Amino acid sequence: MSTLPRFHFGFPAALLVAGMLVASSETGCATEESPLLLSSSSTSTGSGGEGGGTTSTAAKNLFDALEPTLIKECGACHQKGGAADTPFLGDPDAPKPDAYAAMTSWPGFVVQTAAKSRLLTHSKSVEHKGTKPSDELAAALETWLTEEAKSVKDVSQEQKPTIPPFKPILSGFNAVYLGALGAEFEGMAVTFLAEELTPSTLALTEIEVHPTSNFGVKLTHPLFTVYAAGSTNGAPDPVDSFSNVTLELAAGQAGLLGPGLVVLTNWKPNARLSLAFEAAVAIDPNGAADPNAMPCKASESFSLNAAPSFVPCFACHNGKDSSANGAVDMSKLMSDPGAACGQILNRVNLISPAKSQLFVTTNPSGSATHPFKFGGKAATYNAFKTSVTLWINDEAK
Ligand code: HEC
Ligand code: HEC
Repeated sequence: MSTLPRFHFGFPAALLVAGMLVASSETGCATEESPLLLSSSSTSTGSGGEGGGTTSTAAKNLFDALEPTLIKECGACHQKGGAADTPFLGDPDAPKPDAYAAMTSWPGFVVQTAAKSRLLTHSKSVEHKGTKPSDELAAALETWLTEEAKSVKDVSQEQKPTIPPFKPILSGFNAVYLGALGAEFEGMAVTFLAEELTPSTLALTEIEVHPTSNFGVKLTHPLFTVYAAGSTNGAPDPVDSFSNVTLELAAGQAGLLGPGLVVLTNWKPNARLSLAFEAAVAIDPNGAADPNAMPCKASESFSLNAAPSFVPCFACHNGKDSSANGAVDMSKLMSDPGAACGQILNRVNLISPAKSQLFVTTNPSGSATHPFKFGGKAATYNAFKTSVTLWINDEAK
């Protein structure tokens, strides 16, 4: 067990590349002429070179027609910086605001059965803190989502355990949940940064696997498959990059997937990705988290500097919301801060604290799909980051 890979160590190469990629995307304004930022709006009439022919034009046209109503009814809260913290309508201040890209990358929106889309079920539910869509908008959304779903391959009958096709968030942080593999995988995730290097090359970096605090996981031979926009015919990673990778992680422990890096040379703009495994097994450590997984060295600093800052997180990560707690178990924050510290440490980057998932997912101006971003308040977020970083620096000493 002592040989289990731990992502805090031994990934200089991946980190370096990722660092470069992030640095280039963080300069932010390399837009207009940059081929990295080709978006769906950059025409379906073929000037996009490698455009792959069948952009799902029908679906995109339906979206374009409903977009003004959507922005009118939902934009105030659901654009970046809006009150909802869930900016699925994108950034209105971007040089090329692209609600379509944000919507089609949002988890649970484009699914096999449009009526089960989180976009419709949640917005119409009593739990939704915002306004319900008008009947007109709801109908248009369902028609659009139905068209969109035609190009999402149904992988539920695949021989190998497979995560359904999803559209990666480009130049950003992605958390892909493994719940589709079975109940024991609920809350487990593969996380990575995605960057289009050229219209036909997608780099995934800092690829990490996060089991839950209740189950460990063993993943064999992961394989990414690319689905061009509008197509259900997948093209697997041509070099089968992870063919000899087997990753075993104890409950509550995170690790890099292989070298933590893959460059897909068969990428297409606006394509989707699926992820399959030769085998995926959840490992039950008799219901108890591995007590040795990720112990904190600086627990005193954690209690002093960090724990109070996680109180807003505790609202969801307290054990009652299984998806939040499956992702990061903070249920012992009050009763046993040391245990919570070990869980939180899994989402920390000791080498570059600012790149920690804790910060990336909760940054009000970031594109991650996490449902809490300090109500859009940058100052509160910065205060959180400052005090938590005091602990991270102690942990890294
Ligand atoms: C007055 C602000 C407001 C408006 C307007 C609003 N919402 Fe929301 N919405 C929220 C808030 C706050 C949340 C997060 C809390 C919750 O789950 O309700 C949310 C959450 C959501 C979510 C869940 C996102 C996720 O993945 O967690 C969906 C889907 C959604 N809204 C759809 C809509 C749609 C569609 C409209 C337009 C018809 C809309 N909302 C209008 C405030 C708003
Ligand atoms: C409104 C509820 C809510 C609050 C508040 C909340 N989270 Fe989360 N968090 C979630 C959910 C739900 C998930 C799992 C995401 C999913 O299932 O798509 C999650 C997942 C995460 C992840 C894993 C990466 C990811 O994006 O899935 C991190 C890291 C995280 N949360 C950190 C935090 C931190 C730090 C805070 C406090 C500053 C916080 N969360 C507050 C609901 C919340």
